Amino acid sequence: MNYINEKKVNLLSQGNIIADRIVSYNSNEIDNLLKKYSKEIKSRIMLLDEKGIVINDSYDVLNGTKLEHWEVVEALKGKSVAREHELEGYGRVMYVTVPIILNNKVYGSVFISFSLEEVYNNVNKIMRNYFLLAMLCIVITGFISFIFAHVISTPIEKLTEGIKKMYQGNLEQKVEVIGNDELTNLAHAFNMMSTKLFQVDQQRKEFVANVSHELRTPLSAIKLLSESLMYEEKTAVETYREFLKDIVLEVNRLDKIIESLLALVDIDKGKLELNYEITYVNYLLEKLIHSLKPIAEQKKISIDFICSEKIQIELDRIKIQQALTNIIHNAIKYTPEGGKVDILLYSENDSVTIKVKDNGIGIPKESLPHIFERFYRVDKARARSTGGTGLGLSISKQIIELHQGEIEVTSEVDRGTVFYVRLPKNISIRS
Ligand SMILES: Nc1ncnc2c1ncn2[C@@H]1O[C@H](COP(=O)(O)OP(=O)(O)O)[C@@H](O)[C@H]1O
Ligand SMILES: [Mg+2]
Repeated sequence: MNYINEKKVNLLSQGNIIADRIVSYNSNEIDNLLKKYSKEIKSRIMLLDEKGIVINDSYDVLNGTKLEHWEVVEALKGKSVAREHELEGYGRVMYVTVPIILNNKVYGSVFISFSLEEVYNNVNKIMRNYFLLAMLCIVITGFISFIFAHVISTPIEKLTEGIKKMYQGNLEQKVEVIGNDELTNLAHAFNMMSTKLFQVDQQRKEFVANVSHELRTPLSAIKLLSESLMYEEKTAVETYREFLKDIVLEVNRLDKIIESLLALVDIDKGKLELNYEITYVNYLLEKLIHSLKPIAEQKKISIDFICSEKIQIELDRIKIQQALTNIIHNAIKYTPEGGKVDILLYSENDSVTIKVKDNGIGIPKESLPHIFERFYRVDKARARSTGGTGLGLSISKQIIELHQGEIEVTSEVDRGTVFYVRLPKNISIRS
């Protein structure tokens, strides 16, 4: 025990000091000295002669008595010693003896008797306090662990449950977690993910249903036309021609739908890789308008391209061409004979705008929010004659957004439509 050892060393050094000083004192002074030290270090101090007889006891009790303790014997041999004793009816004490040596001769010894009871009591008190503190710590730690386990494990259990359900195919899962910590954030992120997955799954199902429906319509027409030709007896050659013409029309429609579907697949792939090239947008538009001119001329529609500057930006030529062709083709398609289509190109602060304006049939207000949806057409019956699939604008929008651009539309029924395509001059993230 460190505390006791410390005391032992301390008492030994006190004994040494007394033994050193005592040599030069007379018996009266010695008496005072011993009493003074005795008070100071709270011990009984005795001066013994070379036979072990007490010359001076600070308690004035044992004067003249011969002490035969082991410590006394050792001291008379010239050794400083200290030992603990258990005294009946008194408790634990420490005896310390230091020899008084002069010119290599032992003249006697200083005997110190120190009660260790107080020290042990203090030590016990401290130990008890430590024990109580340790117990308290254990209780508090246990309590905190319990709270934490409850606070952390409950939301984690909920999340795990949600993930399991999602795995089983129920994509619309919500985990409710109250609070504002990392776990709540995780739960929010999980909820966002499940909502998104649910939406994507919903869109996928809708898309498959739409595709099947769209493919089926021309197919049933082809089936109907060919069956009626097959079962009709003595059909006139003109009727054959007419029916076959219709069949070819439907086949073309099928072909267009499949072509658009392949374009969509291509864009999905393109999300990973756009083939950026520095391109003059004005030349790209000129080329594009040139190739659409014959269609416009058929309907006696005039196309004008208005551009006052050469504008060069980075883009995926093939994809942007595809997007713009559809928008301009729409302008021609949905404008009656003799109409007018204007295409403007101009640059703004950090973007380039392509404006496609027609004076055609326009789009009703209620349809405007839907025209970029897959397979959406304002006039489904009419679409058969115009040959639309309803996929064009959704493809255009996706391509433009892949370029970090945006597409907007304003329209008025019977007056015309304007499409704005904005592309950034500097594309920040290269895919
Ligand atoms: N310039 C326009 N004028 C009027 N209506 C338009 C115009 N552009 C698009 N629309 C409407 O938006 C619908 C969707 O366009 P789009 O996705 O290109 O399909 P479509 O294959 O029918 O052209 C068209 O069916 C048409 O009703
Ligand atoms: Mg179109």
